[in-house]
Amino acid sequence: MPTESKRFDVANAARLDAPERLEFLPPAEVMAALAIQPNDSIADIGAGTGYFALPMAGLAPNGAVYAVDAQDGMLDLLRKKITTEKNIHLVHAEGDSTSLKAASCSLALLANIWHEFEDHGRIVAEVKRILKPGGRVAILDWRPDVERVAGPQLDHRLPAEDAMRALANAGFSAIRSSNIGLYSWLVQASFGGV
Ligand SMILES: C[S@@+](CC[C@H](N)C(=O)[O-])C[C@H]1O[C@@H](n2cnc3c(N)ncnc32)[C@H](O)[C@@H]1O
Repeated sequence: MPTESKRFDVANAARLDAPERLEFLPPAEVMAALAIQPNDSIADIGAGTGYFALPMAGLAPNGAVYAVDAQDGMLDLLRKKITTEKNIHLVHAEGDSTSLKAASCSLALLANIWHEFEDHGRIVAEVKRILKPGGRVAILDWRPDVERVAGPQLDHRLPAEDAMRALANAGFSAIRSSNIGLYSWLVQASFGGV
């Protein structure tokens, strides 16, 4: 569970949908990197206002997106943005105890929440629990090596290597990292199975 000082404040939710975010972290670029499949069953942990959950729901029409967030206020904002997406399910829960069924997801996304967690082992264990064999995890967060732009303060940011190490320790494979958008990194990995 993150410390309260690091948890993103609902009062700042408009920042998640700010027009400039479309430029420095384009959802289409992230969607392409994630290679969402039509049948994917996706846990978006720390979904916020649905910046990624909504496009993922559009790309997985035969699957489902579970938008997990610990703050009701965030889920209320996301609920208001849902129009035609029938496959998006709002889940009010902590990221390290999502209440999702074991082995039920083909992809887990943690976007801009990694730096908010104190106990990465717990969140990675929960991701392992909910992933199907062969499932994938994607962790995206702010780079600590580029100048601040409306994001968390630099000393709250963590390097991609931190996420890569946590995934390796938990037995994930095919762990890779790339920069994405102007200020973020994306780490992806697979769990067991194919
Ligand atoms: C910075 S926002 C990112 C939202 C979204 N992923 C995005 O990139 O637009 C972080 C979100 O994670 C949620 N969050 C923080 N700690 C959480 C926890 N322990 N469990 C679940 N959600 C959490 C916050 O409520 C907030 O909505």
